[in-house]
Amino acid sequence: MTNSDLIKDLKDNVNERMAFIKENIDKKNAIVITHGCQMNEHDSEKIIWLLEKMGYNQVNDIKDADLIILNTCSVRHSAEDKVYGQLGNLKNLKNSKKDLKIAVCGCMMQRDESRNYVIEKFPNVDIIFGTNNIWKLPELLYSSFNGKKLSMDIEENPVGIDEGIGAIRAYGFKSYVNIMYGCNNFCTYCIVPYTRGRETSRNPKDIIREIENLVENGTKEVTLLGQNVNSYGKSLDYDYTFSDLLSDINDIDGLERIRFMTSHPKDISDELIMSFKKLDKLCNFLHLPVQAGSTDVLKRMNRKYTKEDYLKTIEKVKKVNPDIALSTDIMVGFPGETEEDFEDTLDLCKKVEYDTSFTFIYSLRENTPAAKMTQVPDKVKHERFERLLDVLYPIQEKKNKSLIGKTQKVLVEDISKKRDDYVSGRTESFKLVNFKGSREDIGKIVDVKIIDANSFSLEGEKIGQK
Ligand code: 5AD
Ligand code: SF4
Repeated sequence: MTNSDLIKDLKDNVNERMAFIKENIDKKNAIVITHGCQMNEHDSEKIIWLLEKMGYNQVNDIKDADLIILNTCSVRHSAEDKVYGQLGNLKNLKNSKKDLKIAVCGCMMQRDESRNYVIEKFPNVDIIFGTNNIWKLPELLYSSFNGKKLSMDIEENPVGIDEGIGAIRAYGFKSYVNIMYGCNNFCTYCIVPYTRGRETSRNPKDIIREIENLVENGTKEVTLLGQNVNSYGKSLDYDYTFSDLLSDINDIDGLERIRFMTSHPKDISDELIMSFKKLDKLCNFLHLPVQAGSTDVLKRMNRKYTKEDYLKTIEKVKKVNPDIALSTDIMVGFPGETEEDFEDTLDLCKKVEYDTSFTFIYSLRENTPAAKMTQVPDKVKHERFERLLDVLYPIQEKKNKSLIGKTQKVLVEDISKKRDDYVSGRTESFKLVNFKGSREDIGKIVDVKIIDANSFSLEGEKIGQK
């Protein structure tokens, strides 16, 4: 049997199982609870698509659900603890509602330690699957409804069949699109290469077709997802790079904005940097995780660039596009981080002047190389974390305040969390803006004059709309 015959067979089986559940199962309220990154958020969108095909309704309260799916993250210890806490809280609900099905999926289930812990401590879990076999959900549900105590399936690497899985996007006007799966970098602190398998790029034709379809259905903005989008194309058997993909996506009529996440500084090419000048739809926002400012720490993290390399890249980016907003992931308290190393991180932050940052305290992940290194005491980690924020936030505030009086194009996403008569959206530079508006503005690109700003968001006044 060839690989494509095998895939066809598997898909036929998925369709059969979905039809069975649709026709034979009565109670079909479901809730999907998502932890972690955009990759997980998008995986949950695929799960919801499958659920809707099987006739499930989405509910917002776990008490109303007949099926609860926890899509988990294992990047930090605290993320795992949250899931164990939730599973503990579900025990009573499951006891009082015998038909309730509980499924656990996502990164934690790809790790033997976490999966075994869940199986041992939470016997009420009915279904377990991983990050590479979301499409198996109908089959697993089917066997669970047929009496199987624990329906479980974990796949090491993507099988390539989720090409056929659609996704119910949380917002129709902005969509996540996977361009690749997995990671080959093995940063010494990181669990992802063990939970998401080896790097594989999707076929560009499939990506373009997916985006064209999305645009036909109202999408204005796409965010291309991959652990390291800069190495897109390396697993294809012809010469086609991430810059080529961006350029082809830029040509799609009707699409207005392109974003991508995440880039690795070691792989960012001059061609990609030039895209920020050349491609009119590519937003002026770059998320380039630095992790640490000390070359010595970066070496032990296996990041494969120095502090100077990173600063040089940033300089090039700013030269090509002086208005670009910069964002990063930074970690404090990596094993062996000295006071001097940490000061290098502070120094780098002052030099780059990030617009946004995602800050983390190093969390030991078992079976990663960094777990065996000498750990920094918790008290020191927490103290450094506070000092890092004291450097980052005033810079963010200064950069946000520099937009006061300027007009920004804002894609309106939702009613504001602050006030009912306000809406919130994102500028091209990914800044959050709140301004007076109504539900009618949602999904539109609106001209907004910025009137106030703090470290985290902007306030504006609507002056026009596209
Ligand atoms: N501890 C703390 N932060 C981590 N990250 C990845 N692994 C760990 C860890 N073990 C952070 C990195 C990465 C982001 C997604 O999560 O900064 O870029
Ligand atoms: Fe983890 Fe490094 Fe891969 Fe990012 S590039 S997912 S930090 S191993």
